[in-house]
Amino acid sequence: MSPSFLLLLIPIIPLSLLAILSLIVRPKPIRIPIKSRHVFITGGSSGIGLALAHRAASEGARVSILARSPQKLEEAKRSIKLATGVEVAIFSADVRDYDAVSKAVEESGPIDVLIVNQGVFTARELEKHSVEDVRFTIEVNLVGSFNVIKAALPRMKGREGRGPGSISLVSSQAGQVGVYGYAAYSASKFGLQGLAQSLQQEVVADDIHVTLVFPPDTDTPGFEEEQKSRPEVTAIIAASSGSMKTEEVARRAMDGIKAGKFTVSCNFEGFLLSLATTGMSPQRSFWLAFLEVITAGPIRLVALFFQWDWYNAIEKWSKTKNK
Ligand SMILES: NC(=O)c1ccc[n+]([C@@H]2O[C@H](COP(=O)([O-])OP(=O)(O)OC[C@H]3O[C@@H](n4cnc5c(N)ncnc54)[C@H](OP(=O)(O)O)[C@@H]3O)[C@@H](O)[C@H]2O)c1
Repeated sequence: MSPSFLLLLIPIIPLSLLAILSLIVRPKPIRIPIKSRHVFITGGSSGIGLALAHRAASEGARVSILARSPQKLEEAKRSIKLATGVEVAIFSADVRDYDAVSKAVEESGPIDVLIVNQGVFTARELEKHSVEDVRFTIEVNLVGSFNVIKAALPRMKGREGRGPGSISLVSSQAGQVGVYGYAAYSASKFGLQGLAQSLQQEVVADDIHVTLVFPPDTDTPGFEEEQKSRPEVTAIIAASSGSMKTEEVARRAMDGIKAGKFTVSCNFEGFLLSLATTGMSPQRSFWLAFLEVITAGPIRLVALFFQWDWYNAIEKWSKTKNK
């Protein structure tokens, strides 16, 4: 083989890979409009959900928010009206109560963009976590998400001529990798990955597109509360992905939803984590698919480095604890 032929192969291999990926990535790329659509957000009275509601309202959407506390819902409604002039509809319901959620969804009218964002999180070693708390976490974060989607889906599927719909789930980076102190929380968020992958296959023919958002630590009221009892090791491990402002997470999430992405990471570390954990996830972008294919080996090396670092931190911490 002549050297010039070998040189020619250098650009041909990646270009052929790009060409193949552009033909095979599925589902096909899509844009989700927000303006003049009905955006329904669970957990929309606080933190990331509230910031998403502000964003949707400022982009011209009709917005509904659902949470338990009527007082927090009223406060959220007032703050959105003040900032954007938009009157949001509020619904007080617990996502664990399927009938209450169904009633709220029915009253709100047909939904175009459903954002399943409610969540509870307490970082605690499983041994110290009560069975009731574990069950509560899974019921709100996972079973509650099933309830919301089951309640909204029939009318979302029935939307005729209203353009592409979206079902977005707010997971967590702890839904991509298990973290010390998050056995219950991680399990509840990992469950959303299975739910989202299966659901995307079931609703793609109805022009409904599923998005999973993976925020890192975000400065919300829920996070502030969680910090009070967070184990030291959890804090060390979580620090490797940094923390973000609520509005920035909401902006990234909304951009990802509008771009119809299946996976939305919110910062650079999150992007690396998504590359490392992408597995069998759908991918609409052939550029990102290309990156996933060519970085598969090196990114595994980075993942192993992180595990090395975390286990060293745990070892060091347990030695000082036992002194
Ligand atoms: N903040 C972070 O560091 C972080 C990081 C990664 C992922 N996340 C995820 O992001 C999402 C939002 O978290 P956040 O930090 O914004 O939390 P937050 O400030 O505590 O807000 C949580 C929202 O969910 C609602 N909610 C809680 N339990 C509910 C239930 N049973 N039924 C209906 N609504 C319920 C709350 O209102 P009521 O209490 O009135 O019901 C509130 O509106 C969660 O899914 C969380 O797991 C957060």
